[in-house]
Amino acid sequence: MAGGFLSFEGIDGSGKSTQARLLADALRALGLTVCLTREPGGSKGAEEIRRLVLEGDADRWSTETELLLFTAARRDHLEKTIRPALARDEVVITDRFADSSRIYQGLTRGDMRDTVDRLHALMIGVEPDLTLLIDIDPAEGLSRAVARSGKEMRFEDMGLSVQEKARDGFLALAKAHPDRFRVISGKGTPEQIATQVLQTVLAHLGTA
Ligand code: ADP
Ligand code: TYD
Repeated sequence: MAGGFLSFEGIDGSGKSTQARLLADALRALGLTVCLTREPGGSKGAEEIRRLVLEGDADRWSTETELLLFTAARRDHLEKTIRPALARDEVVITDRFADSSRIYQGLTRGDMRDTVDRLHALMIGVEPDLTLLIDIDPAEGLSRAVARSGKEMRFEDMGLSVQEKARDGFLALAKAHPDRFRVISGKGTPEQIATQVLQTVLAHLGTA
C-alpha cells in the first residue's frame, strides 16, 4: 500500500476541514484506522501554539515570529502525533501542513519563501505522500469563512485580494509538484466533493 500521509490544503473557507472529516469517515467505514489531525495544532503543545498565533490583534506577531511559531507547532505535531500514527500503520489526514507556510508566510503575509523552505529542510524535512488542494473561488471562500467567524480571526480579516493571491499560490505549488498534489474543485455539495476526494485517495492508496 502506498504511503498514508495525506494533507488537505486550500484557502480559508474552501471546505478543507469538512472534506478531511468526510474522508476520515469514509476510510474508517472501509476498515482503515485513521488519524485525523490539523495545523496549526494536532498535538497538545501545538494546540497551545495555535491559540497564540490565531487569536488576538492582527499585528500581534511579525511575519518572522509567526513562521517560527508555525514551524514549532509543526515539529511538535510531527513528533507527537504524525510519526507515531504512521508507525502504527494508520492513515494520517492533516488539515493543512507545510504548504500553508509556503503560501501564507512565504507569499501572502510575508515574502519569505526561501526562509520557509530552509527552515522546513532544517526542522521538518518531510512532505505528505498526497496533498489534496480544494480549489474554490476566493470570494466564496471568504464569505464562508466570515460566516463561521469566531475568535480565530487574526488572519481571516485580511480581505479578498489576499485570498486571491493565496489561491494562485496554491495552484502554482500544485503545478510545480504534480506527483504529490491533486486539485479538487470545491464547488458543489460537500458529498459531491467527498466522492471525488475518496476516489483520488483510494487510487493513491492502491485499493481502488
Ligand atoms: P476550511 O476548513 O477550508 O476553512 P470548512 O470545511 O470549515 O473550510 O468550511 C467552511 C464553511 O463552509 C463551514 O461553515 C462549512 O459548513 C461550509 N461548507 C463546507 N463545504 C461546503 C460546500 N461544499 N458547500 C457549501 N458550504 C460548505
Ligand atoms: P485553519 O484553522 O485551517 O483556518 P481555515 O479553516 O479558516 O482555513 O488555519 C488558520 C489560519 O492559519 C489560516 O488562515 C492559515 C494560517 N496558517 C498559516 O499562515 N501558516 C501555516 O503554516 C498554517 C498551518 C496555517
